Amino acid sequence: MGCFGITGTGKSEYALNYILDIQSKEAVYVIAHDLNYSIPERLHNGRKTNVKRYQTIEEAEEGLLKSPGGIHAIACSDASDVIALGIRTADRSLERNTVGGRDVIRRGGGRGIPVIVYIDEIVNAQQASQYRMGDDLKKFVGQRRHLHCGLVYTSQYPRQCHYSLGEQATDVVFFKLKSEKDIKKLYESFGVPEDQAWKAQSLSGHQFIHCKTGA
Ligand SMILES: Nc1ncnc2c1ncn2[C@@H]1O[C@H](COP(=O)(O)OP(=O)(O)OP(=O)(O)O)[C@@H](O)[C@H]1O
Ligand SMILES: [Mg+2]
Repeated sequence: MGCFGITGTGKSEYALNYILDIQSKEAVYVIAHDLNYSIPERLHNGRKTNVKRYQTIEEAEEGLLKSPGGIHAIACSDASDVIALGIRTADRSLERNTVGGRDVIRRGGGRGIPVIVYIDEIVNAQQASQYRMGDDLKKFVGQRRHLHCGLVYTSQYPRQCHYSLGEQATDVVFFKLKSEKDIKKLYESFGVPEDQAWKAQSLSGHQFIHCKTGA
């Protein structure tokens, strides 16, 4: 799921609330890239996020083993390291829980605890990784179901998001957007119907539109 909107509209909280809803219904690991420590302890509606903060991937890996619940937020510069940790965590869980082991997993079978990777301000993350994330992210997005992972991200600037994020998105949420370039990107690459996308200009406050965009 991608969440877009100008600053302060509530996209990060929407994304977190969406993730917490999933986590309240099923076992799922949540691993976040949070460069700016922006994940709050509580959302505006009082909901606790149970965020656990780490500086490094190693610390997060340890934290996940010790206490798997909550949102594991890592302030490392490179989001592709967070994605790799997500892939590893889901894979380890599959291996531990699948009767029949690797053979069954290779054939697409098996059961484990899935992973949601949350990337706040995905555009920053790409810059921080100096384009390396481009390929990793593309691969991750394309293979995520096979990897037993999901991706949730936010951005102020749809126009700066890689088109492959749009092709694969199942849900697009948008709050107010002012720039025509951003709105165009929503309907040209992200599967939002054009008439809906233009409504982004007249949304105000914390108003939003949630579109099911496919696949
Ligand atoms: N539906 C809502 N009702 C009331 N307050 C809200 C709502 N959603 C978010 N807020 C509050 O608005 C502020 C901004 O929310 P949030 O940080 O999620 O916005 P954002 O779009 O991610 O902003 P930024 O681009 O600066 O990261 C926060 O103080 C949050 O608690
Ligand atoms: Mg935010």
